[in-house]
Amino acid sequence: MNSTVSLTPPSRKVHIKTFGCQMNVYDSEKILALLQQSHAMEPTEDMASADLIIFNTCSVREKAEEKFFSELGRANEFKLAQPNVVIAVGGCVASQEGQALLDRAPYVDVVFGPQTLHRLPELMRQRQRSGRHQLDISFPEIEKFDALPPARVEGPTAFVSIMEGCSKYCSFCVVPYTRGEEFSRPLEAVLEEIRLLARQGVREVTLLGQNVNAWLHLQNSGADLDFAHLLTEVCALEGIERVRYTTSHPLEVTSTLIAAHGRLPKLASQIHLPVQSGSNRILAAMKRGYTVESYKETVASLRQAKPGLSLTSDFIIGFPGETDEDFAATLQLIEEVEFDGSYGFMYSPRPGTPAADRPDTVPLEVKRTRLQALLAQTDAQAFKISTAMVGTRQRILVDGHARRHTMELRGRTDNNRVVNFPGGERLIGHFVDVRITAAAPHTLRGELVDLL
Ligand code: SAM
Ligand code: F3S
Repeated sequence: MNSTVSLTPPSRKVHIKTFGCQMNVYDSEKILALLQQSHAMEPTEDMASADLIIFNTCSVREKAEEKFFSELGRANEFKLAQPNVVIAVGGCVASQEGQALLDRAPYVDVVFGPQTLHRLPELMRQRQRSGRHQLDISFPEIEKFDALPPARVEGPTAFVSIMEGCSKYCSFCVVPYTRGEEFSRPLEAVLEEIRLLARQGVREVTLLGQNVNAWLHLQNSGADLDFAHLLTEVCALEGIERVRYTTSHPLEVTSTLIAAHGRLPKLASQIHLPVQSGSNRILAAMKRGYTVESYKETVASLRQAKPGLSLTSDFIIGFPGETDEDFAATLQLIEEVEFDGSYGFMYSPRPGTPAADRPDTVPLEVKRTRLQALLAQTDAQAFKISTAMVGTRQRILVDGHARRHTMELRGRTDNNRVVNFPGGERLIGHFVDVRITAAAPHTLRGELVDLL
């Protein structure tokens, strides 16, 4: 391909479409900050008015991948009308497909991976200079974080990526292949990013990683520093008043992490701890490395350290070979553990994963019916927990206006529930105490107890 693409002022607008997980949301914020710095570009919500269209893709499930390809087709229509429009594709589909993506969609200008997003400005310059497609989906490890500018902060909450990749190789999951093996950011780099956020008014941070509690800071001398150590340091930072993390793996819930939940009051009383299935047979086939019994023991220890800890999970429905009995065991586990609202996903075979070699035996209709049953149960349990909160006093971080009634405010409880309540604008960005007055299926209503 030899067409020349130019990105010249004054119309420098970038539209970014993000698919999948919070890590991609974090990466997209960084991409925008990067392009503002390198190309003075401003974000636009409107794809049709963009000079640069970026897709930050996800290939964890088939559905997200299909959605991306249909959006990519739409971007091509804009490009046919405006040939100077640049299309860049990043994230896990880019990493998985590489050159095949360019073969399939030759109108794509730049392909970059989750670990090379910091090279996007240079890739765009090279595209402009050479008139050729640019492709860089390598894994240069920690270089990415060193090269990224601080993201723009809007509001009192922020995500902070503390590690990349995953080395667990669950049999169904594409992440270790698309994002590479685990590597952790150094302690001081993470703390410095959070200090900067706190100075800009951030009060709550969510530490991110595909397998976040495997974070480890290797030391030349002395013992390595584990995730519990990092949490302790983050909780000690001035201005930071609440800390969350996601997504954690049950095998990495160590005794020091359990103890941290007991001793760090700033650590939110909520964990997302994906179990995936309530059947030992299926867990073994998934290569999860734990049993239903050991998972329940982990939960019991966490709740002993932190009574009332709220637990959410991911479940895969219809993994190859999942029988009605296996699924019934999952529903039973959900009831026993008293999971709060959780995510359920219909299994989809992912190219290159070991499970994809097994016949996808559970018919789509059966997967759908099981998924509906699972979501009905987790929703009902979440609503029960919400209802039990009516009349209680909750500390919430006010993060903006309520979605529907914009005259009202919105905040989040420690167990991650949205509370809408009447209050003045000046409360945004602060923690306040509210009394819960009513519970709806997905939100709570409250009234202020204390005024600032
Ligand atoms: N680190 C997490 C853990 O400990 O399980 C998982 C991160 S994974 C990117 C997010 C979720 O996607 C998984 O928990 C799983 O439920 C779901 N998922 C991954 N591969 C899938 C597949 N092939 N089909 C359906 N769901 C899948
Ligand atoms: Fe995927 Fe399992 Fe890692 S679900 S992200 S390989 S813990």
